[in-house]
Amino acid sequence: MADAPSGSGFPLVRPRRLRRTPAVRRLVAETRLHPAELILPLFVREGAAEPIPVSSMPGVVQHTRDTLRKAAHDAVAAGVGGLMLFGIPAVKDACGTAGTDPDGILQVALRDVAAEVGGDAVIMSDLCLDEFTDHGHCGVLREDGSVDNDATLERYAEMALAQAEAGADMLGPSGMMDGQVGYVRRALDAAGYQDTAILAYSAKYASGFYGPFREAVESTLQGDRMTYQQDPANADESIREVLLDIEEGADMVMVKPAMAYLDIVRRIADLVHVPVAAYQVSGEYAMVEAAAAHGWIDRDRVIMETLTSIRRAGASSILTYWAVEAARKLR
Ligand code: PBG
Repeated sequence: MADAPSGSGFPLVRPRRLRRTPAVRRLVAETRLHPAELILPLFVREGAAEPIPVSSMPGVVQHTRDTLRKAAHDAVAAGVGGLMLFGIPAVKDACGTAGTDPDGILQVALRDVAAEVGGDAVIMSDLCLDEFTDHGHCGVLREDGSVDNDATLERYAEMALAQAEAGADMLGPSGMMDGQVGYVRRALDAAGYQDTAILAYSAKYASGFYGPFREAVESTLQGDRMTYQQDPANADESIREVLLDIEEGADMVMVKPAMAYLDIVRRIADLVHVPVAAYQVSGEYAMVEAAAAHGWIDRDRVIMETLTSIRRAGASSILTYWAVEAARKLR
């Protein structure tokens, strides 16, 4: 590096000049967040008379049908781009019957939300059995307790049709069964739902960060999902999963969780040419809320910092429980 003409040794090149004022920082910011890129996950509980707080996710509730409609409306008013619905049925069973019942809570909620805000935000639904099964696994089980991939695909296809019929714009297959995107795509097309899109949870890791979600959906899961979700040790495997899903017809792909997997987000964003979403999951939310409740971190600052870092890593959309709050801040 050249010295100053006087030979003083003081720097000629001063990166701090572009950090000096809010105006110049704003001018040169490489990453910007926009409400339209945010997707709000929402829980709706069959039979709930009042919203039920999720204790491990302060500020998040299991909605009633009525409060869900209101929450959807508020999210749209804040400019949020998408709503991802999760249903919690009153009764769970071994094959997750409520997940495919046209009158099941998720289907009913999709109809409600489509009637309320259809067209103003993308209406999405989690396409997975774990919210509906009494054993808490994402698929149907064989007698030995292992998850039966191909039998599960048939259930996912039925679920996809029920959700599409109920008005979902975009389905989120999240069970990590082999071939799920192609199987669901074919079923949708055969039934005339060519326009229903698929946001594939492609690179989904078996993560401890889903802990609070289990409370949110009243999961009874014993053990783990290591035989179908990805090993946190692996990165190349994500590439394989994402490319397979795109080949099978995924319109968008997702990496999940977000913060501990930003290297994966970056690799995939660099590699593929479909939109890449990242899911800032329940445990990421809970960690920040808990530390902030202790006064250990500046909550608002950390929320925006995490969202910015996910965008910076290359995600074009972010699923986050802070979607409405962040969207309001960005407007
Ligand atoms: C599966 C599903 C899960 C989450 C979203 N979809 C749970 C899991 O795979 O164990 C977790 C989301 C979160 O933790 O916020 N239906």
